[in-house]
Amino acid sequence: MEEDYKIPTHVGIILDGNGRWAKEKGLIRSAGHKAGYEALRKLVRYINDKGVKVLSVYAFSTENFKRSEEEVSYLMNLFLKVFKKDLAEFNDNNVKVLFSGRKEPLADDVWEAMQEMEKTTENNTGLILNICLNYGGQAEIVDATKKIVDKVLNGEISKEEINEELFRQNLYKDLPPMDLMIRTSGEVRISNFMLYEIAYAEMYFPKTYFPDFDEKEFDIAIDVYNKRDRRFGGIKNK
Ligand code: IPE
Ligand code: IPE
Ligand code: MG
Repeated sequence: MEEDYKIPTHVGIILDGNGRWAKEKGLIRSAGHKAGYEALRKLVRYINDKGVKVLSVYAFSTENFKRSEEEVSYLMNLFLKVFKKDLAEFNDNNVKVLFSGRKEPLADDVWEAMQEMEKTTENNTGLILNICLNYGGQAEIVDATKKIVDKVLNGEISKEEINEELFRQNLYKDLPPMDLMIRTSGEVRISNFMLYEIAYAEMYFPKTYFPDFDEKEFDIAIDVYNKRDRRFGGIKNK
């Protein structure tokens, strides 16, 4: 491995292609979601070992409520089941779980399982796994704006103190900017994922459907990232 091989601090993944993965195998969409979750579980372990500090995953968007009742309820039950089943595993691996997104219209039992995961893992010092669930990037910016307006109105901060950094700190979770954004399945769009955080992220769009996105695929993503020349508006480095 080259000496200056860089591991990104904050990686984001839009977990996409579960439905098409299932369809190509002649299975129902929910089988794709189940396989997608198993892929994620393995990947979290690997990414934790690699030394990535933050992994944000897009698990369910505010817009995904437009799907059939059957699919939404399958996904909600899957979340509920795996959050309970795998809490101990995440905890044993020193993973700190966070959730980003709105409460409404999530069911109370799903919300409580999310709170329980955050609480149980809050002192862990390994990978921060930020699960974006009932999440929308525009909603996050709107919600941060409301939080900041409240702080100004109650005198906690002055209007002059509002800047890009303060805004970032008032998003759902105070996380470093995203370095690498991966969207599986070949779609080349953002679909409302972490709009504020991706400002200078490198983008990578592998064709692989998420259930097939394994350790090897993740290593390829890191190789691609290492070949990029990040300039942040400055001059060429390479
Ligand atoms: C991503 O897979 C998972 C969620 C959005 C919950 P999709 O369900 O979007 O799969 P495709 O895009 O239909 O293949
Ligand atoms: C984005 O994928 C949301 C998640 C992966 C959770 P979608 O499959 O919902 O996005 P579109 O509809 O193709 O843009
Ligand atoms: Mg999709």
